[in-house]
Amino acid sequence: MKILVTGGLGYIGSHTCVELLENGNDVVVLDNLSNSKIEVKDNIYAITGKMIQFYQGDMLDKDVIEDIFKQHKIDAVIHFAGLKAVGESVKEPLLYYRNNLDSTLNLLEVMRKYDCKNLVFSSSATVYGNQESPRYVETMERKTPSSPYGKTKAMIEDILEDIYASDPAWKIFILRYFNPIGAHEKGLIGEDPNGIPNNLMPYILKVASNELECLTIFGRDYDTPDGTCIRDYIHVVDLAKAHVKALEKSFAVSPNVYTYNLGSGKGVSVSEIVTTFERVNGVKLNYQYGPRRSGDLPKMFADATKAFAELNWKAEKTIEDMCRDAWNFKLGQK
Ligand code: NAD
Ligand code: UD1
Repeated sequence: MKILVTGGLGYIGSHTCVELLENGNDVVVLDNLSNSKIEVKDNIYAITGKMIQFYQGDMLDKDVIEDIFKQHKIDAVIHFAGLKAVGESVKEPLLYYRNNLDSTLNLLEVMRKYDCKNLVFSSSATVYGNQESPRYVETMERKTPSSPYGKTKAMIEDILEDIYASDPAWKIFILRYFNPIGAHEKGLIGEDPNGIPNNLMPYILKVASNELECLTIFGRDYDTPDGTCIRDYIHVVDLAKAHVKALEKSFAVSPNVYTYNLGSGKGVSVSEIVTTFERVNGVKLNYQYGPRRSGDLPKMFADATKAFAELNWKAEKTIEDMCRDAWNFKLGQK
């Protein structure tokens, strides 16, 4: 199959390209490199021995997308491209609405024109908003996400539902990620954001490598066993494999909108991440406890049973794997 991967040089996209190539697919990538580097293309080759076909371009320009469909018979699209920084989206909502919504609308219009109606979309657990129970399940009614970033994901989910309702030839897979961390075990691709990271693992990596002085654990007075927040961390390679499963299923099932949580189903605390990172990597992390971060939920993890039942997928890798592989990647960047 020939698959268009938008945002394919980014963190999750690059790992998914590896899995797609290793499963015998042809991969075409469109990325504007706004949050990724061109070297990732060669690193994907170094891991797989196979080349992606890369187009540098902005999805806000519909012609850029259409040119790809003119040149290639695309069987399906995995749509990762988007801006994803929660805090930035609060400060720059127009940037987020313009980029994430218009890029998706342009893509959908071109797909419809070229009769390509198999789509896998990167959504987020943030679309659930704040629920009573910490175990998040696909049947829960979504509540308004707290950030413009999260709202773009919820809006796109609605757009995809409407498209299917108007034209039931579409096979749409909405994947709601929990907390992806880790890196490919060869250490050639991973996540290394510029500047001061907001997310836990990138921050830990910068403290471990002495680029930042000290990790602040946000809150130790939550109603959890050790007082720190609980999340569902998932290894990015497991996440990438789920995309291949979803894609394969899209060629086998009848048209519809299928929505899946992608998480391990297990809650892990911030303190557990910190101590596991120190233990498996033999590194001492400088950390302190600080106040709660505004907007953080005490506890959330996926009910991952639907993905197992219908995609035959479950997270295989451990927190140890995630901490080891993330650090291995970071060491290669130094
Ligand atoms: P990333 O920033 O590493 O990758 C996104 C890629 O899209 C980047 O390479 C960027 O250059 C590209 N891009 C952005 N806007 C574009 C545009 N207009 N045209 C072309 N390319 C564009 O992010 P990621 O962590 O790999 O996330 C991939 C997707 O998964 C995103 O949609 C993100 O919102 C979603 N997601 C990520 C997480 C997470 O924790 N990483 C969690 C839930 C959902
Ligand atoms: C955040 C986003 C979510 C997004 C996800 C992945 C918010 C409210 N949610 O999830 O929408 O999909 O990132 O990009 O921003 N922590 C610390 N110290 C730090 C950083 C984090 O203690 O320096 C803690 C947080 O309080 C949280 C946990 O680590 O309990 C994970 O945080 P983070 O990696 O930012 O992910 P989420 O907040 O779960």
